[in-house]
Amino acid sequence: MSSIHILEHPLASHFVTHLRDEDTKPSLFRSLCKRLTTLLAIEASKDLHLTSKIVTTPLEEITGHVISEPLIAIPILRAGLGMLDPIVEMFPDVSVGYIGLERNEQTAIASAYYAKLPPRIGGLTAFILDPMLATGGSAAHAVSLVSAAGISTIKMLCIVAAPEGVQHLQQAHPTIEIYTAALDRELNDKKYILPGLGDFGDRLYGTY
Ligand code: PRP
Ligand code: URA
Repeated sequence: MSSIHILEHPLASHFVTHLRDEDTKPSLFRSLCKRLTTLLAIEASKDLHLTSKIVTTPLEEITGHVISEPLIAIPILRAGLGMLDPIVEMFPDVSVGYIGLERNEQTAIASAYYAKLPPRIGGLTAFILDPMLATGGSAAHAVSLVSAAGISTIKMLCIVAAPEGVQHLQQAHPTIEIYTAALDRELNDKKYILPGLGDFGDRLYGTY
């Protein structure tokens, strides 16, 4: 069964509060998005497999441990791109795929306009990056595409989630692991998250 992991750390609350503030400008917004993604990545990588590695310190030889598991990161265009840099920074060997999804402004139904996944991804762990989980339509669509490509373990990293989106995604994909910095109250009649932070992509790229 799938599970949801909500960041419980004073830094996460601090960053999300500033992110929500309508006075936060795109440059700070982008920076807060990166800091929150770093916290999410730490949480989502807790169970990655390690292998032993012998290294020699300036004083003696030791057996240490390094991450042995190949990873894939898949940002959902466009807002998910804001989460990619810290993932590549932390996991330099990560393979990156891209999925383009856009919600129809009237119906809030997401449709795909682009998909490019790395070859031979079967059996790997994927982090799907999309800061907003609202109705869950975009995330469910993305997970379907990634599962169809043969991926075995999928973790959804988002910054703000709505209960409706969590439920939709868990019903559509019962084994998904969801990591979020905040679980908000509900959606409004336009399917925006309340209290939320508005349109993430617009605030990230200054297009509001
Ligand atoms: C936003 C967000 C998610 C989606 C979430 O993208 O980045 O992809 O909405 O909503 P849902 O859970 O109801 O599907 P949007 O369609 O606004 O595109 P953008 O990232 O290009 O701005
Ligand atoms: N997409 C956003 O960017 N914000 C919302 O509140 C819902 C979907």
